[in-house]
Amino acid sequence: MEKTPQALKGKKIILGITGGIAAYKMHAVVRHLKKLGAEIQIIFSPCAEEFVTKLSFSTMSERPVYSEFYSSEDGSWNNHVELGLWADLLLIAPCTANTLAKMAHGMCDNLLLAVYLSAKCPVMIAPAMDLDMYAHPGTQRNLSNLESFGNQIIPVGDGALASGLSGKGRLAEEEVIMEYVNTSLSSKNEFKGKNVLITAGPTHEPLDPVRFIGNRSSGKMGYALADKAAQMGAMVTLISGPTNLVPQHPNIKLINVETAQEMYDVALKNFSSQDLVIAAAAVADYRPKNIASQKIKKNIENGDSMQIELIKNPDILQEMGKRKTDQILVGFALETTQGLKYAKEKLSKKNADVIVLNTLEDEGAGFGTDTNKIYIITEKDQLALPLMPKVHVAQEILTFCHHNFLK
Ligand code: CTP
Repeated sequence: MEKTPQALKGKKIILGITGGIAAYKMHAVVRHLKKLGAEIQIIFSPCAEEFVTKLSFSTMSERPVYSEFYSSEDGSWNNHVELGLWADLLLIAPCTANTLAKMAHGMCDNLLLAVYLSAKCPVMIAPAMDLDMYAHPGTQRNLSNLESFGNQIIPVGDGALASGLSGKGRLAEEEVIMEYVNTSLSSKNEFKGKNVLITAGPTHEPLDPVRFIGNRSSGKMGYALADKAAQMGAMVTLISGPTNLVPQHPNIKLINVETAQEMYDVALKNFSSQDLVIAAAAVADYRPKNIASQKIKKNIENGDSMQIELIKNPDILQEMGKRKTDQILVGFALETTQGLKYAKEKLSKKNADVIVLNTLEDEGAGFGTDTNKIYIITEKDQLALPLMPKVHVAQEILTFCHHNFLK
């Protein structure tokens, strides 16, 4: 996030508000965005006015609020194509299950949906609904469809819901929405003309045709880095172990791998043409020495224990450290204890320029979460950052590398 008071000056945002109880919370978001200098055009879905008024939002945004294709007062046309082209960002918040479903299926029976289909800018969606509606496979499938279109989903909050129930489905908090908007709009093509290689996710080391040794990495940090680097203008090669994620940006070339050896082979093959390499993958240090060709059966003669012999995998980052010419190398260190000490050791052992440390001693950091708390460590610096969403962490890491190494 930019620290200047008018960080969003001149940025044009269309805010789509749909008919959910959380719509009133967007007053605070609009006030905040205006304070940062953004221009905001608000569009209501047909049901939004059941929950909030056009008068309050048009007063705050200093523009009329649109909801119809035609204005009933003067007969003029609200041109959805022009609106779709005008915006630097389309934010739909709160987005109900109904609007979400229509967007996921390309439906177009109101002005907001027409603008969504016409928009050429990044689209962010902050869903809000009751927990069972959110958990329904239909909603989940719609969300992953929208992600596969390149739309960014702002994760729902977890807690008290309007129904009196409690769980996942609340509109993300104002600060979270603001962080997503800021992160998206404050990029300035810093990485234009640069090649960035990112490793992400876990590796799976097979034992037999049905089993593997893996780890809990979700890949979220690596994918957030890839998306952000691409938004900042880079051509990104993303080498990913098995995850459920889909990269969002067209400038990301995704190469899927399973094992550490495959990741090593692809990474080293692509290494020489890179300007920046970020090793965010949680690579298995060891793999089974022998992979059984058939499923390993329970062997009663061996009693209650079983031995698996493991052999060392190649260290991708360390090998790149040996071969580097002028590439900038960033490694991650996930530690459970003595984080700073181990991170410093990894910096020199792997000949990296930066180690990003996250320690499981910090709540909200590490695997599977949408947030992370990191320390950026170089030869000279040691920077502690607060807990923040992984998209924002990605921006901080990339901005740090740009300022310190690639400017
Ligand atoms: N790494 C890698 N290849 C490996 C192991 C690790 O490229 N075979 C990279 C990771 O992607 C990460 C960094 O090295 O960027 C540190 O990984 P980590 O597992 O924390 O370090 P290790 O060297 O494996 O040390 P240890 O497990 O003993 O902490």
